[in-house]
Amino acid sequence: MGKIIVCKTSDIPLGKMIKVSIDGRDILVANIDGKYCATDDSCTHSGASLAEGKLDGCTITCGWHAAKFDCKTGKLIEFPAKIRDLTTYNVSVESNNIFVEM
Ligand code: FES
Repeated sequence: MGKIIVCKTSDIPLGKMIKVSIDGRDILVANIDGKYCATDDSCTHSGASLAEGKLDGCTITCGWHAAKFDCKTGKLIEFPAKIRDLTTYNVSVESNNIFVEM
């Protein structure tokens, strides 16, 4: 699919994350210390929107059952059961526009 513009840098304040939809796929984009990262938005446990959870540093905590994922790597950090890691995407910024590669 290539590189797709998803939002402006001003849409995501420091330490925040948003959900964007690209061709029907929900992607989470987060601003961690001025660097942006992107993962699938859907929790691999039961499908909650991770953008509705919490972001602390680069740790996303799911709002439903508290699974924790690393936003940069997509790796599961903590959960009582084995669930899949999140798919991550390359992010780039040009002229205050955020692009995600899919
Ligand atoms: S849906 Fe995310 S931890 Fe259950």
